Amino acid sequence: MTLKSLTYTSLASLDLTGADVDAILAKARELNALDGITGLLVFNGTRFLQIIEGSPPAIDDLVNRLRRDPRHSAFEIRDEREIEDRMFADWSMELVRVSTDRIDARETVSRQLPDAVPDDVHQRLVTMTENISGNIDMRS
Ligand SMILES: Cc1cc2nc3c(=O)[nH]c(=O)nc-3n(C[C@H](O)[C@H](O)[C@H](O)COP(=O)(O)O)c2cc1C
Repeated sequence: MTLKSLTYTSLASLDLTGADVDAILAKARELNALDGITGLLVFNGTRFLQIIEGSPPAIDDLVNRLRRDPRHSAFEIRDEREIEDRMFADWSMELVRVSTDRIDARETVSRQLPDAVPDDVHQRLVTMTENISGNIDMRS
């Protein structure tokens, strides 16, 4: 069966608390298990980066719910593709908290990505994590 993988970034609402993030994760895991969705959620305290994978209708449905969710804004799809095999088969949704320091964030995500993630996707996720974590240094 062909699966869809979708990656987006968004901005956490200013009044989002730690308890809110815990609640998002708990609900995500519960619903994703029912919907056959797996994936990864990266949070740096300000921005989210999420990759979700599942059947195309299940992903489209989740995207509609995510777009309406007031706990984040600036929802922007960064990548959308068909995949043959899941990259995050064991994760109904795994939260990786990263610091706003780009190098730290990069290392944290790189360490935690499952082996099933192909090199090009690994590289893309690491770079995107770096880019949501702090400003790109224009001097270099
Ligand atoms: C950053 C973020 C990530 C989320 N991830 C998921 C997810 O992976 N799966 C999910 O079902 N809901 C997720 N949610 C919650 C959905 O936006 C939505 O509240 C939930 O699916 C219930 O939908 P409903 O409120 O329309 O009933 C996430 C919300 C946020 C803010």
